[in-house]
Amino acid sequence: MSDNDDNKEALLAQADGVVKTVRFVFLVILLFPVVFYFSLKIDFEKDKITDFVEQPLVENGIDPESGLIIDEHYELVNGTCSACHSINLVTQNSATREGWKELIVWMQKTQKLWDLGENEILILDYLEKNYAPKEQGRRAPLKDIDWYEL
Ligand code: HEC
Repeated sequence: MSDNDDNKEALLAQADGVVKTVRFVFLVILLFPVVFYFSLKIDFEKDKITDFVEQPLVENGIDPESGLIIDEHYELVNGTCSACHSINLVTQNSATREGWKELIVWMQKTQKLWDLGENEILILDYLEKNYAPKEQGRRAPLKDIDWYEL
């Protein structure tokens, strides 16, 4: 081999080294956003999990903010019936369906409660189911008793 050939080979080896270095640098630059993206994603997911834990816990099926029993249409009731007064007025009362209906009519006649439209049925369904009169006393009233003559 001549000196010239040796030189060429050395140059080629050098060039090869440069190409490899450049390739490596590009690879790192390309990988960086990917790694960055995944590290961000992991952070987001951590946030999501803590968000979830920090939400108020629903206890015994009662919405901790309004105190309403969570059931079908409770959000409708919460939205409608807390517009003028505390929703406590609802949660602290109980009535039959007819009783709630009368109350709504009374509020419409005297308190400027608007026509509830189709929502009235849904609201009454909810109130009847969840805020019915509480049972009186500890035992059911006696029925069908044959009282003996005194
Ligand atoms: C337009 C306003 C308004 C809206 C909306 C409203 N109310 Fe009322 N409500 C009143 C007013 C005013 C009173 C009287 C408040 C007071 O006595 O302090 C009242 C009183 C009540 C009371 C207490 C009645 C009593 O015997 O003392 C209950 C229970 C009640 N509302 C339930 C509801 C329910 C259920 C809804 C949803 C369907 C509702 N309110 C929506 C205005 C409203």
